[in-house]
Amino acid sequence: MLPAFFCIAAILVINITHWLYKWWNPDCNGVLPPGSMGWPLLGETLHFFAPNTSSDIPPFVKERMQRYGPLFKTSLVGRPVIVSTDADLNYFIFQQEGQLFESWYPSTFVEIFGRQNVGSLHGFMYKYLKNMVLNLFGPESLKKMLPDVEQASNMYLKRWSSQTIAEIKESTSKMIFDLTAKKLISYDVEKSSDNLRGNFEAFIKGLISFPLNIPGTAYHKCLQGRKKAMKMLKCLLQERRERPRKIQSDFFDYVLEELQRQDTILTESIALDLMFVLLFASHETTSLALTLAMKFLSDHPLVLKELTEEHEAIIKKRENPDSRLTWNEYKSMKFTFQFINETVRLANIVPGIFRKALKDIKFKGHTIPAGWAVMVCPPAVHLNPAKYSNPLDFNPWRWEALDTNGASRNFMAFGGGMRFCVGTDFTKVQMAVFLHCLVTKYKWQAIRGGDIVRTPGLQFPNGFHISLSGKNAQK
Ligand code: HEM
Ligand SMILES: *[C@@H]1O[C@H](CO)[C@@H](O)[C@H](O)[C@H]1NC(C)=O
Ligand SMILES: *[C@@H]1O[C@H](CO)[C@@H](O)[C@H](O)[C@H]1NC(C)=O
Repeated sequence: MLPAFFCIAAILVINITHWLYKWWNPDCNGVLPPGSMGWPLLGETLHFFAPNTSSDIPPFVKERMQRYGPLFKTSLVGRPVIVSTDADLNYFIFQQEGQLFESWYPSTFVEIFGRQNVGSLHGFMYKYLKNMVLNLFGPESLKKMLPDVEQASNMYLKRWSSQTIAEIKESTSKMIFDLTAKKLISYDVEKSSDNLRGNFEAFIKGLISFPLNIPGTAYHKCLQGRKKAMKMLKCLLQERRERPRKIQSDFFDYVLEELQRQDTILTESIALDLMFVLLFASHETTSLALTLAMKFLSDHPLVLKELTEEHEAIIKKRENPDSRLTWNEYKSMKFTFQFINETVRLANIVPGIFRKALKDIKFKGHTIPAGWAVMVCPPAVHLNPAKYSNPLDFNPWRWEALDTNGASRNFMAFGGGMRFCVGTDFTKVQMAVFLHCLVTKYKWQAIRGGDIVRTPGLQFPNGFHISLSGKNAQK
């Protein structure tokens, strides 16, 4: 009896020791980058997600860059990960999409976004979907949208100015959602009784939560939110199918036409997943950027002054000052685009872009083993003092002097390579047009909130409350 017990105990101890040894010393046909794998299973996950109020490179990454250099290994959400803060390697990773690297996100994300979303599709299907979306958000399409964006901005600004205090984070998020939903599915938030956005809110609140799917948890609400939103999208698509419209103008029309073709590879469920991702990807990111933009303007009067001058000049040049914003006027907003670049550089809305290595990859003496996850870290590039002097300063004028040829290596707020964000131009139109309406007609005062927390994604835990009034009004 006793010898058997010792025998089993010994085997267990040996197994566990072996497993632990493997955890801390993973297999590799070469030299792994330095770094720590943290606790078994947990890795360094908790430290990675620890909230911090700094706008600098996330402390988790910064500490390790100082200790290990630009490339280090760690373990996050149960996976071995190589973190890259090296601009050249990041560029290489983006260029090698589909060859040496492919898009990879933690499995909870796949669960949440649907199995067939743009983020996780590869190869042919992916290119096909991407072209479809690029069409939808390309220059021709955006030109047609310009009046809608202007109208929505004016409407929301007017509404805020009628309130004593307006909370900007929620309101911009609502505005962007309205615009995107209108563009994609002609969904009119003002006229609809169902609450599509409410379901997205529940979804987003639980997105960065512990993945425990039992009633009451944020994660459970998140999955429920997605389920309800998907059901609504499905109903809306069905309605359209029953009552087709004469002039094709939105994504639903396009999808229905495509589904009728014999040789199509599009299915209804792929189209609905895509719809969901687009509605999600647009409204959270752009509203964060706009809220931060308003905070920067509140804190930097000289920037506000120059921005206002640019937009007032646009109106002065017009024959009729009340005419609508034109595409040429939009294109002429030089300082505004510098301002937007500087805002998204410091916003670092996407703190990590994930890929999976498909083969062993050698880089500057280290090896990234096949199958490992790689996290490209945009903040480390955007806040590199060698590329951006005094990187934490908000200084839109720095973009005048920056050589934009090499810029793509040092600016990756919208990703890079084949997976470059399809919403980049859409975002810029929305931001620029909103800013135009804001600075030409209104003045405002920050009242409270506006504090930033990063987990490591950007958040405004107390919102940003302002008091907005017409330029000539007394309030
Ligand atoms: C400030 C606003 C935004 C930021 C900072 C941003 C950032 C990014 C980044 C970094 C990526 C690359 C992800 C990767 O390589 O894995 C990306 C991809 C993507 N973005 Fe955005 N985005 C913004 C707005 C938008 C908007 C408005 C839309 C929708 C209209 C959108 C839709 C997408 C989609 C569909 C992808 C996946 C593209 C692909 O995998 O090929 N984004 N975005
Ligand atoms: C943020 O990170 C810094 C540097 O690691 C640390 O000193 C600080 O305690 C952290 N916490 C908060 C809440 O900012
Ligand atoms: C903003 O950044 C992009 C990407 O690097 C660059 O192509 C563009 O010229 C920049 N815009 C301005 C106004 O500097």
